Amino acid sequence: MATIYLNGEYLPADQPCISPLDRGFVFGDGIYEVIPVYNGHLFRLEEHLDRLDNSLASVSIKTSLSHQDWHSLLTELVSRNGDGNQSIYLQITRGVAARDHAFPNEISPTIFAMSNPLKPVPEETHQHGVSAITLEDIRWKYCHIKTIALLPNVLLRQQALDAGAVEAILIRDNEVTEGAASNLFIVRDGVIITPPKGPVLLPGITRDLVLELAQQTDIPCRETSISPDELKAADEIWLTSSTKEILPVTRLDGQAVGTDPADKPGPLWQRMIAIYQDYKQQYPDQIEAQDKA
Ligand code: PDD
Repeated sequence: MATIYLNGEYLPADQPCISPLDRGFVFGDGIYEVIPVYNGHLFRLEEHLDRLDNSLASVSIKTSLSHQDWHSLLTELVSRNGDGNQSIYLQITRGVAARDHAFPNEISPTIFAMSNPLKPVPEETHQHGVSAITLEDIRWKYCHIKTIALLPNVLLRQQALDAGAVEAILIRDNEVTEGAASNLFIVRDGVIITPPKGPVLLPGITRDLVLELAQQTDIPCRETSISPDELKAADEIWLTSSTKEILPVTRLDGQAVGTDPADKPGPLWQRMIAIYQDYKQQYPDQIEAQDKA
């Protein structure tokens, strides 16, 4: 039985009780994070915690947990669940109160974390890539907040799955924003391009790492808006997230991506995924030593 964390206690996953009056349940009034764990090490934890702080501040939820507290709490959770490769989900809601839209005066947040084995991306996916479809971005105007209110994302992802694809690539005001649960990159003439940060997309931790690694390895990259036509004409399309890393999209709206034979990821993806895996292997020891040097 997996162990979860709830409001200061580690409990068997089937035991905890959360009130039906929790504002997360009633209003979707809460935020979350997903953090990958490799060999028991929490990957890019500081970056995830900085984003968590931003999400909390954006919705005016306060907790008394410092980054050090989070580190201890999550390391303990991962250890109780057997270390190795895991995916941590943590969620903070405004807490429990009688139903009223206004923020209650006296309320303490509900803090929940669980960790599950991290499923490796199947070899088949890296060999042949995945399909995506484009859909209108029907979400709200604060997509930079990692809110638990994910119904639009859920509907968009399901629409993609029903169409035989794995992700919906979203378009708002004639610009490509991101995937339903991933950030987006295209490759054009050897340059990696991703839309700039702003309220229309989540500032992905994997996105930032890909840009960082590209800069370190002299792969040209740009943060600039992408039109649907540019997406369609891209040499390569990638989707990034903490659980799927960097996925090559080889079919978009039923058409092959780029000029390579269909169902074969492009050369820059091959290079970037190798760089990414190398970084993961070295994390955290060599990376921290390099940062200090
Ligand atoms: N989602 N954009 C959206 C809308 C996302 O939901 C996610 C990740 C990302 C990628 O962010 P990161 O690289 O920090 O994982 C971008 C997570 C994995 C989820 O909801 O399960």
